[in-house]
Amino acid sequence: MSENPCPSSAFQAIAIDGPAASGKSTVSRELARKLGFIYVNSGEMYRAVTWAVLKANIDTSDADAVWSFVQALTIDCALTQNAAGERISTVRINGEDPGEELRSPEVNANVSPVASVPAVRELLVARQRDYSQIADIIMEGRDIGSVVFPDTPFKFFVTASEQVREARRRAEGHSDPIAARDKQDSTRKASPLVVADDAVMVDTSTMPIVEVVQLIESQLMEKGLKKRCGCD
Ligand code: CDP
Repeated sequence: MSENPCPSSAFQAIAIDGPAASGKSTVSRELARKLGFIYVNSGEMYRAVTWAVLKANIDTSDADAVWSFVQALTIDCALTQNAAGERISTVRINGEDPGEELRSPEVNANVSPVASVPAVRELLVARQRDYSQIADIIMEGRDIGSVVFPDTPFKFFVTASEQVREARRRAEGHSDPIAARDKQDSTRKASPLVVADDAVMVDTSTMPIVEVVQLIESQLMEKGLKKRCGCD
């Protein structure tokens, strides 16, 4: 990674955590666009590793087998500009881009056990922190405020009722056991999904995205976020 738009200043990290289908991605992408920050989806890193584990026919409930396979992978985390002009994170495994397969029903059903392996988390958390060395970022996930960037003052926990989240995922047309994933993500030993003590809770059940974005943006300004890149 070699991007450095503001070489003389420390980069800022915004943490957006929350359960499956809570609206984190949509909100994070829109905020990144408005603030000129880079959007990083940490879930895609866990999904990409899960995709590789499944391709190799490894039993995802066997933590030792998962780790011995994952530690030998070449995992490239980088940045790219998409067709909409957004700068976003990308992940390739052994040179391959998993593409749409990141959201396959098989990956949905197996990502939580893979993400619960402590050594896998350690490896990917280090990659996630690397992004904060090269740009202002907004990162979404499960443990961004609690573990990845515990010192950032910019932490949000975005949630919605289970019914609303189920309905959103159905509308996207994906088969996704979100209740089971939430349970596993919240009860695992290694960095479970928790609300960081200093996170602002945002319930998106009945709020349109545009209002959620406005609310978070105004909280960010109150907390002293600098909209300086690139570089105003
Ligand atoms: O899009 P959605 O919120 O449903 O999921 P995601 O953010 O793509 O995350 C997929 C899975 O990766 C989660 O269910 C977690 O098991 C894991 N994950 C994690 O453990 N820690 C993160 N920081 C991000 C994702």
